[in-house]
Amino acid sequence: MTAFPAGFFWGAATSAHQVEGNNTASDWWHLEHAPGFFGDEPSGDACDSYHRWREDLALLAEAGFNAYRFCVEWSRIEPAPGRISQAHLDYYRTIIETAGQLGLKPLVTLHHFTSPAWLTAMGGWAHPEAPDRFAAHAAATAAILDGVSHICLINEPNMVALFPTLMAAGLETLGRSLPAVHPATAEGLVKAHDAARAALRERLPRARLGWSIASQTYRPAPGAEAAAAAYQRESEDVFYDAAAGDDWIGVQAYTCRRVKLADGQLVPDPRPDARRTLTGWEYYPAALAECVRRVAALTGLPAIVTENGIATADDAERVAHTGAALDGLAQALNDGVDVRGYFHWSLLDNYEWGSFAPTFGLVAVDRQTFQRTPKPSLAWLGEYNTQERN
Ligand code: BGC
Repeated sequence: MTAFPAGFFWGAATSAHQVEGNNTASDWWHLEHAPGFFGDEPSGDACDSYHRWREDLALLAEAGFNAYRFCVEWSRIEPAPGRISQAHLDYYRTIIETAGQLGLKPLVTLHHFTSPAWLTAMGGWAHPEAPDRFAAHAAATAAILDGVSHICLINEPNMVALFPTLMAAGLETLGRSLPAVHPATAEGLVKAHDAARAALRERLPRARLGWSIASQTYRPAPGAEAAAAAYQRESEDVFYDAAAGDDWIGVQAYTCRRVKLADGQLVPDPRPDARRTLTGWEYYPAALAECVRRVAALTGLPAIVTENGIATADDAERVAHTGAALDGLAQALNDGVDVRGYFHWSLLDNYEWGSFAPTFGLVAVDRQTFQRTPKPSLAWLGEYNTQERN
């Protein structure tokens, strides 16, 4: 018997800022052009999906997928506080309708790392008005989400909550310490989740709402187990707690995290001999099933894999990694874990928050011409869905 049930989402994911290009009203655009930006280069035209999204959708549909996860860009919908761009709402509505016509169920994310520059200038998620501002964004966007079955409120709030502490400490500290959650930011994100959920429930009672967490599977050195569990509790699990009452939970898993105690502090403990991907992360495909099992047990919610993938220049390695991750997922399903879909990160080689070098895509994108070239992994992964149907 096949593990993956009928109606399982087989999709790929993108986020607005990483593919659209010229996302000029967003806080990230400002960051990329500020002195001392940590990245190699700014996002610029990215993949020009702002104009070429039809090609992106067509490639996915032709390869046999049945779903597409993408993100509406808040700073395009509300470029100034309270000023809603009807043209951009219409723009995203056309993407949703076209996806439907192509047989792709859209899973729409309302916030994927980028906020309007005006929100961040106010103080970002830590500002007392932020939750209501986000709920207003959700309410405005609800007008175009009719018929969308699944909505992701916020992508990886746990990463967003680490960002202020990380930026204050400097990115170079990442290799030797684990950043703490910024409490006011975390609190603002949880309140924003609750306020947006209420706003959407009122307007779209049939939509299934959830949020997606950067899920970790820890490998603590002997003696570091309790400290690792405590760190995971405060930097990740609090966001699962906040999902109580949601309709599903998004799992995003890439690698494992090895940690140890040094002078009483929990610190990264990378294996020097480990095989690594282009992001420097340990090659560890079992992360997906380990995270899905943990998160499903912790939350009791149906899980959707909203991201999983690998940064590699070798597409055969992508196929091997993804195949191993999906074998583990199939095993979890066979063991009774409730998983409803798999979205690969990413559809395109895109802007990886500071650099175009780590290539996660099922499709290559020429940086000059924006020509899309599907990699063999695109057709290979699409077959999971077509095989299920046959
Ligand atoms: C994010 C994506 C990112 C990916 C790979 C996730 O943390 O949601 O935007 O590109 O991981 O780093």
